[in-house]
Amino acid sequence: MTSNRQIVLVNKPDGVPAREDFALREAPLPEMPAGGVLCRTRFLSLDPYMRSQIAGRHPSGTVAPGEAMRGETVSEVLRSDAPELPAGRLVRCMGGWREYSAHAAGEARLLDEEITPPSYALSILGMTGLTAWAGMVWQAKVREGDCVLIPAVTGAVGSAAAQFCALRGARVIGIAGSQAKCRFAEESLGVEACINRHTEDIDSRLKQLCPAGINVYFDLIGGGLLQTACTHLADHGRIVLCGLMAEYNRPERDPGPPPGLLIAKRAVVSGLVVYDFEARRTEYIRECLALLRAGKIIQREDVSQGLESAPEAFCRLMRGENFGKLVVAL
Ligand SMILES: NC(=O)c1ccc[n+]([C@@H]2O[C@H](COP(=O)([O-])OP(=O)(O)OC[C@H]3O[C@@H](n4cnc5c(N)ncnc54)[C@H](OP(=O)(O)O)[C@@H]3O)[C@@H](O)[C@H]2O)c1
Repeated sequence: MTSNRQIVLVNKPDGVPAREDFALREAPLPEMPAGGVLCRTRFLSLDPYMRSQIAGRHPSGTVAPGEAMRGETVSEVLRSDAPELPAGRLVRCMGGWREYSAHAAGEARLLDEEITPPSYALSILGMTGLTAWAGMVWQAKVREGDCVLIPAVTGAVGSAAAQFCALRGARVIGIAGSQAKCRFAEESLGVEACINRHTEDIDSRLKQLCPAGINVYFDLIGGGLLQTACTHLADHGRIVLCGLMAEYNRPERDPGPPPGLLIAKRAVVSGLVVYDFEARRTEYIRECLALLRAGKIIQREDVSQGLESAPEAFCRLMRGENFGKLVVAL
């Protein structure tokens, strides 16, 4: 253990990122800060917000060409000066796209040993699960009888959201990018009907499936779909704005639905930033662990093997080709 392999950004992509926009580079091992830890990455989370960091449009900061990619990891403590983070234990930290990372004690959180497999700390029991719960349970307050529309329904946030809504007695209509994804959503995620966005006309399918209108739209996509969903909104419908998958790969932004449409529907529109719910993470984990243990929810992971696979896996995510929560196992 003398050097540290890491993935750096070499080009800022204009559109969908390509494998060649990233490179594997050797770097010196990081210095362990006094009172801190040296960690080895076990699982790396790949998330759409990283595309916004590359574009310089994310509140957490920018990744410029020449810099290593950042990201949340589950890492093993190799050396420790922090009594609360003993060597051998797993922690959650911002390890980045690299093999080894060093952190001050306050920058790494000991992983609850009840979180198994440990990669769930990055998915259903981590940021993406918390986003789904915050959006559907705390913000939209989904209840029995609601008709809820969820795009990217087999993805990390969408698949958790669909299951949480179905368990609360809502009718869940999903949208996904392939026949196989739609089948999985209907058979395993509690989705009543799933629309294939590549082969079906979403507008006419929504007319058929939601004749009384959509009560809740979880917007993970932006683009034209937001406007389509708004035209099918029931009166007093709730829209949770959460992500812009249809827009991250392009410089311009869609204008969005006309305000008059939202006024006519008496819509309640709220933006969601998961960081605002950090203080409630433990409360969420408790609720979600009980559902997992009771076999009421599942997590499908799309696991890519080895640090060198991270660039292509990330490009797949930004092309919409992941099937489940995308994680790299190191
Ligand atoms: N606001 C927050 O705090 C917060 C927190 C976490 C995540 N998010 C957002 O939530 C959304 C989902 O994130 P995730 O991690 O769960 O990702 P994900 O759903 O696992 O993966 C993204 C999925 O988006 C779908 N998609 C739809 N239109 C697309 C397009 N034009 N191009 C590419 N993909 C498209 C694809 O699924 P199909 O092909 O099946 O449609 C793709 O698999 C993202 O917008 C993300 O930024 C926001």
